[in-house]
Amino acid sequence: MARGLHWGMAVLVGVQLALGAMAVTWRVSPAKVELFFWHKSLGFLIFALLALRLAWRAVDRAPPLPAAMPDWERTAARANQALLYALLALLPLSGWIVNSAANVPFRIFRIVPLPAIVPPDEAVTRAFARVHLGFAMLLLLAVAAHAGAAWRHHRVRRDDVLARMLPWGGRT
Ligand code: HEM
Ligand code: HEM
Repeated sequence: MARGLHWGMAVLVGVQLALGAMAVTWRVSPAKVELFFWHKSLGFLIFALLALRLAWRAVDRAPPLPAAMPDWERTAARANQALLYALLALLPLSGWIVNSAANVPFRIFRIVPLPAIVPPDEAVTRAFARVHLGFAMLLLLAVAAHAGAAWRHHRVRRDDVLARMLPWGGRT
């Protein structure tokens, strides 16, 4: 379950970053509206999956890290993973603020009407669009460090941290 959520969400987050970048750069057209529709809907799906994932993590703990791992690496790994979780919540929340401040009516997947969390305000829209972009850049950096560390475990340290996490890996 934890691995399924991890890799499923990793794919969704990749698609989501691409959709966001496409939606902002596309020329004004029905296709742009459609890109934003999918970007916002998928953003809330990721938000919901995050809640499920944190709940799951609370009952089914991750296996311990290799005993040989130095303390600073453990701290770095935990800090970066906490940052990844935080960003997966802060991105939908900041996007929601942009959407509310821009006063755009929206139904998630054309079904669930999205209430506004802030009143309409152009300055807030612009400021939070920048915050949202900043969070997206930070997410890219954090994922790069995270994937780089996973690669290092596998090829340099040659431990099982990546192998046990792979969808086809064995249970430890
Ligand atoms: C994990 C979730 C999300 C990720 C990774 C993400 C990522 C991005 C990225 C990369 C962009 C383009 C860069 C930019 O801001 O100019 C963007 C733009 C945008 N996103 Fe998201 N987003 C997420 C969730 C959401 C949600 C839930 C909403 C709305 C309810 C939303 C609304 C927007 C809006 C309105 C823009 C355009 C901002 C502008 O005009 O510059 N995003 N997002
Ligand atoms: C959007 C992309 C990704 C996100 C948001 C993400 C997020 C996370 C988070 C939050 C954890 C901590 C799980 C826990 O609570 O203990 C984790 C674990 C892990 N991730 Fe990722 N991940 C992403 C992509 C990747 C990629 C591309 C790789 C490999 C190349 C990878 C390899 C791992 C491994 C090996 C672990 C287990 C670490 C351990 O045993 O403590 N992840 N990931």
